[in-house]
Amino acid sequence: MSRETPSGAVGHTIRRYDTVSSTNDLALKEGLHGVVYVAREQTLGRGRHGRQWASAAGKGLWFSVGLRMAPAGLTFAAALAVRDGLQPGLEASIRWPNDVYAGNFKICGILVEHRAGQSALGIGLNLSHGPEDFPPDLEKPAASLEMVTGHSWDREGLLGRILDALDGYVTRLQSGSYAAIHQSWAEACGLQGKTIRRDGVTGVVTQILEDGALLVATDGGVLRVDSGLITQVD
Ligand code: BTN
Repeated sequence: MSRETPSGAVGHTIRRYDTVSSTNDLALKEGLHGVVYVAREQTLGRGRHGRQWASAAGKGLWFSVGLRMAPAGLTFAAALAVRDGLQPGLEASIRWPNDVYAGNFKICGILVEHRAGQSALGIGLNLSHGPEDFPPDLEKPAASLEMVTGHSWDREGLLGRILDALDGYVTRLQSGSYAAIHQSWAEACGLQGKTIRRDGVTGVVTQILEDGALLVATDGGVLRVDSGLITQVD
């Protein structure tokens, strides 16, 4: 299906599938720019750090965008685009580094992969799960949009708003506005100057580096934090 986009780039074509291994695989394999791959179900959906991403049939918006560009800044762009696309129905927040939350529940994860000049920007947004659909022992408590708002969501409208927002951010990245996108993302994460805890170590975030890593001043010196589960203490 072809689609009008603000810049004519991200989301000009949407390809729909019933069951796939992972929409990121399609985006990486085809090597196209701006094409969106949406699946009803993924059998091998993957998350960050080699984790599995549960992608039950019809329960979420599981999609990837193929982009012929370097991955720098794409996770920031994706998190901002999901946050924007959820408005005005939901005021979501971005939790470092690139999860989207509603209150204290993770509703969306983002995975950017890169191979031979091709990026796959994958977004998994929980739409219509009930509480029974999530294991109780998740590291990050999860919910669906339906659970947190109490109503169902128009998936096509939501996908269109996210893609339009993403188109804007990706266009800006391509025209050299990395610093501005990074700043918007860092502000949205809200960690600058905040006290955080990770693996039992507490410290103050003194800087959010260009690649998204945190510099944290602790009693034992300055730590660089690239990933992992952090808790905001104040
Ligand atoms: C995470 O929070 O760990 C990232 C999850 C990313 C899931 C999406 S769903 C669409 C795309 N295809 C995948 O296999 N993963 C991403």
